[in-house]
Parts: sequence; structure tokens; C-alpha cells
Amino acid sequence: MITVQDLKPLRQQILEWRKKDKIIGFVPTMGALHKGHLSLVEAAQEECDHVVVSIFINPLQFAFGEDFGRYPRQLGSDALLLKEAKTSLLYTPTTEIMYPENFSSKVIVTPDLTEKLCGATRHGHFEGVATVVTKLFNQVQPDKAFFGEKDYQQLLVIKKITADLDLPVHIVGVPTMREPDGLALSSRNQYISPNDRQTAGLLQQTLRWVKRSLRDAMPHEYPALCEVASNKLLTAGFDKVDYVQILHIPSLTPIHDRAHLSSARIFAAAYLNKTRLIDNIVAG
Ligand code: PAF
Repeated sequence: MITVQDLKPLRQQILEWRKKDKIIGFVPTMGALHKGHLSLVEAAQEECDHVVVSIFINPLQFAFGEDFGRYPRQLGSDALLLKEAKTSLLYTPTTEIMYPENFSSKVIVTPDLTEKLCGATRHGHFEGVATVVTKLFNQVQPDKAFFGEKDYQQLLVIKKITADLDLPVHIVGVPTMREPDGLALSSRNQYISPNDRQTAGLLQQTLRWVKRSLRDAMPHEYPALCEVASNKLLTAGFDKVDYVQILHIPSLTPIHDRAHLSSARIFAAAYLNKTRLIDNIVAG
């Protein structure tokens, strides 16, 4: 595995592969890698000749008071995992490379997509994601880029910027990897205390309960169903629920017709202590 920190050697290597008509796959990450990330690398390997993984904890996508300072940093063990997974190139840019002193541009996506669900409370989050991903795409110039479906709203935002800005990258969504009790794998699961771990699994189980209940519900009852699910989470031990919502994909608008459930997902975000967990499943 080649490891680079600077743009110049990154571009040289990409150029070498391009000259040989190689298909380049890209998996952008913030490190603290788990099996979910490795499944993205595996998906990329199946479709591409070379896989580039980036590790960069992007300060722009953390709102004030969020966990930027304590986000797990474990570059050594991450690099070992990626090497074992036969990653072609690991790119680890510094903040100075990504955001030099005079950096002053932002990629802003329509509020229809970015100011609901996670965007309603994580102000500036999707601007930060859109900006860093646009930069990373320009730096790595991949043919295909792979993102986990756990961050489904992020996946939609990235598909939107790619289409709107004519970025020549094909975006691939990869299904969420889960623990045996259904908990979606996430770097932030490291924050969950042993006492809270069992409760954490109930997020996914509650989404499944909503999905089952949808079979007998009318569209006007969906908000009430989400309210019941939210209360279930609080009763189960979650400290705060940001949202439980059923929304159409890719517009993220409410569903008014049962026939549209097949193109909808159920989304939830809830806190266990200070740890914010998110998840989503197909509704129909
Ligand atoms: O999903 C993530 O890990 C991050 O949001 C991403 C896409 C790497 C951008 O920083």
C-alpha cells in the first residue's frame, strides 16, 4: 500500500494509473475504521482496479460543541487494516493541505436536502461534508466513490453535488453493516458505555417496529407512529431523540400515499448520553 500526505505524489500516482486506463475507486473516511469501512473498500475492489482511501477528520463538518476534539484518531491501526484489506493507496492530508490559510470557498446544497433530519440540529454539517467531498473528488479524481447507507442523507447530498456540479464520479451506496443485535457499525460506537450498549441496539429494533406498524397504518397516521417510536426510545433509556421520520427517497419529503412507501426510508437519530446514534431502513 502506498501512503501519501501531499497532493503532488497523490496526483503523480493517479496519473500513472490513468495512463494505464485503470479504474480508480475511492473511499473517503474520517478514520477510526471498522468493518463497515472495510466493506466499502471491498465493494470498491470488486468494481475498480485500484482503491484509494482517504483519512481526514474534516473540521468543517463538526458544528460548534460537537465531538471534533475527541473524535477517535488511530492512524496506525487504520493503516494496518487498510494494508491487510489490500488498499492501493492511503491518502492522509493535513488540515493545512485541505484548508490553507486563505481558503474561503464552500459548497452549499439546497436546504430541501440539508436542513432537515441531521441538518436541522447539526448546523453547517452538510456544507462541511459537501465542501470536503468536492475537494477530495478533485484531488483523487476517482471513477467511482463508495459511501455507506448508514449516513443516507449524506449519500443523497453527495449524489446531488455530483449531479449538479457535473463531477465525473459515479456514486455507489453500500448497505449498512450491523452488530448481531442490529446496531449499525459506526466510529462513534466507541463512545457508548458498556451500560448503554444494550440500549443502543434498540434504535434499529424500533425502526423495524415502525416498518411493521406501517403495514396497517394510513399515511395521516405516520407522524403519530413516529411519535410513538420516539417515546419508545426514550422509555428504553435514550436520553434525547432528534427525530424519527418516514421520508421519500431521494426528495426527503413526507409520504402521503401508501404506494410510495416502497421508495421511502425510516430515519432516526437519538442520543445515549452525549453519543448521537443515527440509523435508517427501507420503509416498504
Ligand atoms: O462519512 C464520513 O466519514 C465523512 O462524512 C466523509 C464522507 C469522509 C467526509 O468527511
